[in-house]
Amino acid sequence: MKITFVTGNSHKVEEATAICAPRGITIVQNDCGYPELQEDDVALVAAYGAAHAADRLGSAVIVEDTGLYIDSLRGFPGPYAAYVYDTIGNPGILALMRDIDDGVGGNDRSATFRSIVGYCEPGIEPITFEGAVTGRIAYAGVGEGGFGYDPIFEIDGVTLASMGEEKNNVSHRAKSFAKFADWLFGRGEV
Ligand code: IMP
Repeated sequence: MKITFVTGNSHKVEEATAICAPRGITIVQNDCGYPELQEDDVALVAAYGAAHAADRLGSAVIVEDTGLYIDSLRGFPGPYAAYVYDTIGNPGILALMRDIDDGVGGNDRSATFRSIVGYCEPGIEPITFEGAVTGRIAYAGVGEGGFGYDPIFEIDGVTLASMGEEKNNVSHRAKSFAKFADWLFGRGEV
């Protein structure tokens, strides 16, 4: 089946396609936009965006929202990951964490990505599907692939930006879209 993915981010579309195509789901990008709530919970942001986009387009849609939670920074930037990326970026995050060592004195560089897929049809309540992955913030940016925080987020010593296609097996987005695909399958739509 085809599903409309409302996003302006072509990297997300590529990843969603890599994850969903083997499951029989075709992702079609629509860049019509939707209001992004300034909320502490990315699930609320995705649910609201999906409902808004479904009403606007008059069809079933998905949106996806990601948060990055760095433990030693008490969860910063969390749902404000896009604003922080656009302002201080990866160099700013690395500077904030300059004195934080892994496992020394109770400090560590662990961090979690949360991805929420929000699905909605006009007139129904939105449904959300969450995927999360825990890794650590590298000491320096490594790798040319991916986007956003990928060069500084590593799993077992490899940054998401260095993984190539493997990112789509292990990432937060791999998990949230897999849950969404399983749900569609359970409805008998795939
Ligand atoms: P949003 O979901 O587009 O709001 O993303 C929030 C911020 O996290 C943006 O700056 C994105 O570039 C970044 N981001 C989203 N997904 C990923 C990812 O898979 N890897 C690295 N950065 C990401």
